Parts: sequence; C-alpha cells; structure tokens
Amino acid sequence: MDETHTDMIRLVEKEIFGDAGHTMDHVMRVFRTAMHIASNHADVDMEVLKAAILLHDVARIREDNDPLGKTDHSVLGAEIAERILKELNYHGETIERIKHCIRTHRYRSAEKPDSIEARILYDADKIDLLGPIGIARSYMIAGEYNESLYSLTPLDEYVRSNLVGGKPDGRIMDICKHAPNIEFETKMKNIPERLFTEEAKQIADERLRFMEEFFHRLRRDVSGDL
Ligand SMILES: [Fe+2]
Ligand SMILES: [Fe+2]
Repeated sequence: MDETHTDMIRLVEKEIFGDAGHTMDHVMRVFRTAMHIASNHADVDMEVLKAAILLHDVARIREDNDPLGKTDHSVLGAEIAERILKELNYHGETIERIKHCIRTHRYRSAEKPDSIEARILYDADKIDLLGPIGIARSYMIAGEYNESLYSLTPLDEYVRSNLVGGKPDGRIMDICKHAPNIEFETKMKNIPERLFTEEAKQIADERLRFMEEFFHRLRRDVSGDL
C-alpha cells in the first residue's frame, strides 16, 4: 500500500464512518480477496483495481441515510471517486476505468462490469456476503432492522406474502418477517452463478456449503429438534 492509497483510505474512512455493515474492514477484506483473484490473471491493471476497491463503497452511507431511497451508492460513489482521484492526480482515462468498476460493482447494477478489473471487484465484493463473514454481516443487519432470528415460513409462502409482486427479487414488505435464512435462500444462493472468475466461483461454492450447514443446524435448534 503506497502513500496515495493511504491517503485514499483516510478519505474513504471519513465518508463511511458509522456504517456497521460496510466499514473499512469490509473494504480491506474485498481488497485481499481481489488481490488473490488478480494474482491468477496476467492482464489486470493494478492501479485501476486497487483504487476501485478502496473507493467502491464511498457513497454507501449516503445511500443508507437517504430517506427517499433514491440514492444509488454505485452511481454516486463513482462521482465522489472522480473528485478524490483528481485530487490525487490520477489521469483522465484511468479515472474513467475506475468509475466504470464502481458503477458496476452492485448486484443489481443496470450497467454490467465489462473489464477484468470491474469483474474482479464485483466478484470479491460478493464473496464478502458469503461464509462465516456473510452470516455475521447478515445478523448485524438483522439486528439493525429488527428482523427475525430465523423464519420457519416455507420459502414459496414467504415470497408470495412478503415480497413485492410475489417474486424472489421483489422488495421486502414487512422487515420483521424477514430473516437471514430467507436472505440466504433468495439471494446468497444465487451468487456463484453470477460471478465472473473461476477463482471466485470456487471460493463462493465452499462458503455456501458452510452456510447451508449453519442454517440447517439453526433450523433444527430453533425448531427444538434436539
Ligand atoms: Fe457496494
Ligand atoms: Fe462493498
């Protein structure tokens, strides 16, 4: 990590201070995972990748604090990143390539990642939703929003009654009926097929198996099946 990256981390820390699920710890985990994936690819521009990782969630807290729900942290994040990168004397074309990575890092981004750097950021960011870290993060969010510890409602019934339009990707209607095991079934299980790199798919498969076992065991304990 050189001086420019240390400056960047300081600027990002100021922006995302107070957001439990997206702290700098998350950013640094994504950084390490991305470096692992990148080490198997010869054609990665590390200047673009490193800056994109450090800045990718810079607008996250602004999205969380928007009462109208209109802020998209990937779009706003790319704009904030541009200002920071200009301050740190990055070149125009490099800035554009970093902005593309940030705009497309999101699960539901309209624009898709079309460079190797954007794909590695996307994959490394999604990996952080899986495994023990994924479980811990989903329970932090569950606590914040008053979700249930576990939902015993059959999945198809839950989707029909608590997701807008009765679709698995519909918005949640009553957050108190939501639970991490539902998040696992409707979202996390679909992550591997949406990843781009082979390395990420392998890590994701292993972490999903761990989560499967965890939620299976939790269901048993919650049901009193001793
Ligand atoms: Fe993000
Ligand atoms: Fe992220």
